[in-house]
Amino acid sequence: MRALGFSRPELPADPPSPAALEAADRISRYWTSPHAGALRPGSEAHKREVCRMFHETFNPYRPSIIAWPKLSPEALQRVTSLPIWDVAVHTESRARLRFATYARSVEDAQVRSAVALNAWEEGRHKEVLANLVQAYGIELASEPPFPLPRDPQWAYLITGYCECIDSFFAFGLFELARQSGFFPAELVETFEPVIQEECRHILLFANLMAWQRANLPWWRRLYFELRVAAVWAVIAWERIVLARSMDAQGNNKGDKAQLDSTFTASSANAISPVEIDVRDLMALCLKENDRRFAGYDPRLLRPTTVPRLARFALLVTKPWIRRKASSSVQAQS
Ligand SMILES: [Fe+2]
Ligand SMILES: [Fe+2]
Repeated sequence: MRALGFSRPELPADPPSPAALEAADRISRYWTSPHAGALRPGSEAHKREVCRMFHETFNPYRPSIIAWPKLSPEALQRVTSLPIWDVAVHTESRARLRFATYARSVEDAQVRSAVALNAWEEGRHKEVLANLVQAYGIELASEPPFPLPRDPQWAYLITGYCECIDSFFAFGLFELARQSGFFPAELVETFEPVIQEECRHILLFANLMAWQRANLPWWRRLYFELRVAAVWAVIAWERIVLARSMDAQGNNKGDKAQLDSTFTASSANAISPVEIDVRDLMALCLKENDRRFAGYDPRLLRPTTVPRLARFALLVTKPWIRRKASSSVQAQS
């Protein structure tokens, strides 16, 4: 990171006042560019303002001063038995390494600086999780060594698109955890800055992808689109492998370290006392996705693939749900 000319952001040494916390939260989720006029994707202004957004919405929380709430024995049992901690911690380590490696390969100074900050924030997420597992006595499997990616762009694309998928579901699952009261509200709130930070990450990713696409000559653009398609195929394959390796409790029977970010893949039934219908969960994810992006300048692009797929899934399963509902009414009468 130092080789990139990156210097650690200054973080307040003392615990922040409630007013400072509220201000940091507001700054991290609302941002409008001072640029007058359109921000054409791929233009110099678009790139400059996206990178500016990323720096200006930085939330200066310090993981080491987070006060982890004392949990009742039941809540502690729920937290420690969640099957996500190993994968979550490893995912943050790997994301940090991959973003930092990609930043080193970027020529544009503004983009490099934004991606380097993204990498640093992934390291901070890991610190938050590491402090949590320590506070609640959760045993983690030892971290596998993560080799430096040989192809920085490929690694960046894999991690970026994985974040787009996982963040979309994390938004809904996080809201589900909040609504269900299955975990203490103070614990859920502790993660709020991390979840909003992931929203900023995928906002940056979507816009940098658009900027990159717009600035490639057609023949390089073609190659780039083939790579993106291959990335989606690899991610889809990884998810299928993951789904097949899960047992009924959502525990991964396979090698967790080999899988890319799977933070949300198995968590719905582990964070809510009530069973939630997949369609309802999808609708909640969409609603939360819209809410979390609503505060950022509408001239910036949003990640669209996963929300579109979710809307499509809701649309095509609607007639089936109607048929199911009417057949159960007939069966009762
Ligand atoms: Fe992260
Ligand atoms: Fe991230």
